[in-house]
Amino acid sequence: MKKVIAIDGPAGAGKSTIAKALAEKLGYIYIDTGAMYRTVALLAQEQGVAVDDAAALTDIAGKAEITMRVEGGQNRIILNGRDVTEAIRKPEVGAAASPVSAVPGVREHLVAAQRKLAAHGCVVMDGRDIGTVVLPDADCKIYLTASLDERVQRRYDELCAKGIQTTREGVREDISTRDYRDSHRETSPLKQAEDAVYLDSTGLGIPEVLSRALALAEAE
Ligand code: DC
Repeated sequence: MKKVIAIDGPAGAGKSTIAKALAEKLGYIYIDTGAMYRTVALLAQEQGVAVDDAAALTDIAGKAEITMRVEGGQNRIILNGRDVTEAIRKPEVGAAASPVSAVPGVREHLVAAQRKLAAHGCVVMDGRDIGTVVLPDADCKIYLTASLDERVQRRYDELCAKGIQTTREGVREDISTRDYRDSHRETSPLKQAEDAVYLDSTGLGIPEVLSRALALAEAE
């Protein structure tokens, strides 16, 4: 059985759904690294810090104490004792998380925290640079993606289900902008690790993707 599983891919590919379900099946811890960048972006917004103020953002990331706990089957994100699970899912926080995550100092702090969280093994971690930078020695690496159309539809459905008002065009614009920025930044851009398995989930349901991911995780 594998001990450390890394799942990377673009926005809306279903990484968190699959990573969370995989962790549940294996009895592992699930670590959502995107939530950590979103949390720093939320703090920056609350403190009126601009997304290009690298020094202030690095300071925020260094001081933020971000923890995760599972409650009623849901992954809760706790920032300095405050539950920010819902607040960080707002589209404006997601949009700010992308430039915030391009700041090298922010990444340094969060990558160090992520490695600590994974130090004891038995983890499924998802993000953009897990297989390439955070956990290059992961036992199993999956690059999960889907067509832009499908990712837009999934994210649109997810936001609607949460009662967040949006349009398909708005979601498409948001996802395209974020994907471009996340894959073209200088520090740790989104890319498939050489030893990652490419998994295209276009047209596949969650059970199908999960069973493929589980097979990869359990393979020798
Ligand atoms: O996966 P997500 O949408 O919650 O991620 C929010 C932002 O954080 C995304 O635009 C890219 C960034 N991110 C990153 O740079 N590295 C990670 N390991 C995870 C997320």
